[in-house]
Amino acid sequence: MLRSHTCGELNAKHINEEVTLAGWVHARRDHGEIIFIDIRDAYGITQLVFDPKDSRDIHKEAHELKSEYVIRINGLVRRRPSGTDNPKLPTGDIEIVVRGLTVLNPSLTPPFEINQSAVVSDETRLKYRYIDLRKPYMQENIRLRHRINSIFRNFLEKRHFVEIETPFLTKSTPEGARDYLVPSRLNMGKFYALPQSPQLFKQILMVSGFDRYFQIVRCFRDEDLRKDRQPEFTQLDVEMSFIDEDDIFELSEGLIRGVFKNIPNIEMPTPFPRIKHREAMERFGTDKPDTRFGMEIVNLTDALKETKFKIFKNTLEKGGGIYAINAKGCAKYSLSKINGLIDKAKEYGAEGLAYFKCENAKLVSNIDKFFGDAEKESMRKTALAEDGDLMLIVAQKREIALGVLGSLRLDIARDRGMIDENKHSCLWVTDFPLFAYNEEDKRWVSEHHPFTACAEEDIRFLEDNKRYGAIRARSYDLVINGIEIASGSIRIHTREMQERIFKIIGLNDEEANKRFGFLLEAFKYGAPPHGGIAFGLDRFATIFINSNTIRDVIAFPKTQKAVCLMTDAPSDVDDSQLKELHIRKVT
Ligand code: AMO
Repeated sequence: MLRSHTCGELNAKHINEEVTLAGWVHARRDHGEIIFIDIRDAYGITQLVFDPKDSRDIHKEAHELKSEYVIRINGLVRRRPSGTDNPKLPTGDIEIVVRGLTVLNPSLTPPFEINQSAVVSDETRLKYRYIDLRKPYMQENIRLRHRINSIFRNFLEKRHFVEIETPFLTKSTPEGARDYLVPSRLNMGKFYALPQSPQLFKQILMVSGFDRYFQIVRCFRDEDLRKDRQPEFTQLDVEMSFIDEDDIFELSEGLIRGVFKNIPNIEMPTPFPRIKHREAMERFGTDKPDTRFGMEIVNLTDALKETKFKIFKNTLEKGGGIYAINAKGCAKYSLSKINGLIDKAKEYGAEGLAYFKCENAKLVSNIDKFFGDAEKESMRKTALAEDGDLMLIVAQKREIALGVLGSLRLDIARDRGMIDENKHSCLWVTDFPLFAYNEEDKRWVSEHHPFTACAEEDIRFLEDNKRYGAIRARSYDLVINGIEIASGSIRIHTREMQERIFKIIGLNDEEANKRFGFLLEAFKYGAPPHGGIAFGLDRFATIFINSNTIRDVIAFPKTQKAVCLMTDAPSDVDDSQLKELHIRKVT
């Protein structure tokens, strides 16, 4: 070792010991003749003292030390003079009188300071990621992620799960995104797809009799990126045989509880509440409700069934509904703020947004002349509006109206500081529809993925294409603080049922065999009933840090355009490489 101790471990017990430390020059303070340098390594910071009275030569060398130089020193540990100790630092009682100094490597002036929370652009942070990762905050994040992985691994190990790696060079698995393709040099014109998830392999492992599988695994998806989406991200992927939904819930709750207990030391009560997809949509306008605050959506359709207001009347005639949220205390919003909400609502897909303020126990608005007193009173009561509240109303097709209000609900809650960030809400969303109708392609598609089983009672609807929309899936999402953290399902395990579902989503036998023949074949050889779940590890880790972007828990993330600014990937390749792969660029 190049050191006798780390920069985080020396304290009053080590006074008068000769020690050797190695690390980075973190900060420097010149006090008259004496130079103080904080030396930093992964474990902490220690104060070094260079006093010309101790050694003129070393003191002279210390003059040359700059930020982020890598140095090695030896010296004597002594108590800091009284009044100069730093109780915030574990090493704050002592300092080292330096007797020997070696510069192991100098450094250019870093593009930003490590010890400051200065505002640095995302581009610069990502380009110089190795420097960004030196920040104590980033070090903590990456270590936190490691701890979460360890908690998961220990928990699953105790429950006899086997960690099994599955291939990256594989065939496409449909998880709703585009595939990243890898050309095969040895098989001209053919491509591997990087897995969007190990879905099919984990199911095959159940057919192989492993009973309980898990993997902390990278998944690759070419999709539009956002704060909570990266082109490559990590899942804790789990699959079990001979189980039902309750087994998955119990296991997952144990995993989540373990992390909350060990990281922020919070006792997360279990079982987590469960809410059916339909109810989540009706109350919160989303399938990932944040239940840390109220402002739930209310249905005004009944209260307004006789409405004379033309826009509402037309909507009802077309089979739409009228829904509202009651923004508590927001009647004081200025007209420009309300107009801002109207613009937002339109961005979210609304044709318009009506509003009423509640004043003196009455609803008032620019459109209130179109509404009778009884009607307004009925609206007010349904929404439980009181003086000072602002009711926001969308009349449109049910799904659109609910979605718009769900998004406004979140915007207003954030704007008004209604979300207690120290509170955590975990819940299961269940009973998703099995299929969704894709208007563009005029066909049914799987809501989760096509390997999801449908509710026993709904199997009969598979006969009738008018009922497809009503079929419930045996799938479930785990939502924490309004973020979809995990998703899974009980799977189809018979060839017949799998083929039926493929047909409904428009895969004929030939296509189904081409893409998933190996799964259908495996199902012929005694596939056990099975099911599983996958946790988005990056998203989960983000819950425990002071940031809402998953980039802050990924060591080397990519930009919104899927670029790694540090390595410059993706990049051009030589023509000779392309030739070997039988690929020609079309410009
Ligand atoms: P799903 O596609 O819902 O399910 O993914 C599971 C979880 O992975 C996380 N996630 C992402 N995180 C970061 N960036 C992304 N681009 C991204 N996409 C998804 C989410 C999500 O809940 N094979 C199924 C699981 C199963 O059925 O067992 C699957 O992958 O937190």
